[in-house]
Amino acid sequence: RRLIVDEGMPAKPHTCAGRPGARSPLPIGMVAELTYRCPLRCGYCSNPVQADPARDELTADRWRNVLDQARQLGVLQVHFSGGEPVLRPDLADLVAHARALGMYTNLITSGVGLSRGRLDQLVDAGIDHVQLSVQHADAPAADAIAGLRSHERKIAVAALIREAELPLTVNVVLHAGNVEALSSIAALAADLGADRLELAHTQYYGWGLRNRAALMPAAGQIERARTAAVEVHERYGDLMEIVYVEPDHYTGRPKPCMNGWGTRQFAVTPTGVVLPCLAAQQLPGPPAPTVHRDQLADIWYRSELFERFRGTAWMPSPCRDCELRELDFGGCRCQAFQLTGDAAATDPACSLSPHHDLVAPAGTRPAMIPRRYP
Ligand code: SF4
Ligand code: FES
Repeated sequence: RRLIVDEGMPAKPHTCAGRPGARSPLPIGMVAELTYRCPLRCGYCSNPVQADPARDELTADRWRNVLDQARQLGVLQVHFSGGEPVLRPDLADLVAHARALGMYTNLITSGVGLSRGRLDQLVDAGIDHVQLSVQHADAPAADAIAGLRSHERKIAVAALIREAELPLTVNVVLHAGNVEALSSIAALAADLGADRLELAHTQYYGWGLRNRAALMPAAGQIERARTAAVEVHERYGDLMEIVYVEPDHYTGRPKPCMNGWGTRQFAVTPTGVVLPCLAAQQLPGPPAPTVHRDQLADIWYRSELFERFRGTAWMPSPCRDCELRELDFGGCRCQAFQLTGDAAATDPACSLSPHHDLVAPAGTRPAMIPRRYP
């Protein structure tokens, strides 16, 4: 198996002529953010600072309708996410509904609250794959990052997932507080019997943006992490697929966020807002579309939000004339907005951006502020 170093070369989206907006691509995946509630308090949390209250979450009936519409639209994969999706008692019902529609189902979980009984329900419902988050290889350090004694529980949940013979991906968000532990984290993932290990440097959205200075690794840490990623691949590459996602702040190459705006995936928030990416709700403009007002097909093909940054016509200089514009799509619109105030600006992660200095690491590293909920 090879080490996948993700510097962001996307696959070409497929398109479907003859549909509304004939040049619009078909979506492959939907991120179903079932709830923003979560028992963990990770300082890198990318969910909005002002999370929607639980009382406004979509009902199970409404989610079933959203799944029906998604399948009609062409969606093949559903990622049940959050927050912590296990907090929804109807999770297994929704998984069963998606499977009955023929969709591949993926659960993205911290593992907290995933008892053997709940896992059995999910297996009966037909869950296809589980992604389990791990914060560190060392329990006290992991618990400090998560803001909850949870590491030992995660280890136990990984064993349950393997017993159930489900494919297991271990997800690790890398940042200044754990990046030096990359090798021991990989050893842990191998011990847990993971099929796949995703080591992705953190991004700075939602609550995580508040902690940018605390989270951003120093240049030396990133150099050592890259070396460690190669070493762990040599050691464990026969046991599991290893994906190492480089931080775009450091490479000078922006990530092709979402593989291009409105091309392959969309997200539905706990209250039914439909977004091209998880952070787009912050962008200025008309209110984002919701499943309460519109059909998913109308939102995907015709809404102002999804049309706004499709293709390359919206691009400013230097992206407009850049030969990489169809590979990285000018980077991330949300990062551009957060750092420059202009969602249409070239992503400052790009070394050609006139704002590239904005992604430089902070001189001092403050303490991380744990995630809080209103
Ligand atoms: Fe990508 Fe724009 Fe930078 Fe070119 S100038 S590499 S298209 S972000
Ligand atoms: Fe919104 Fe990148 S997170 S475009």
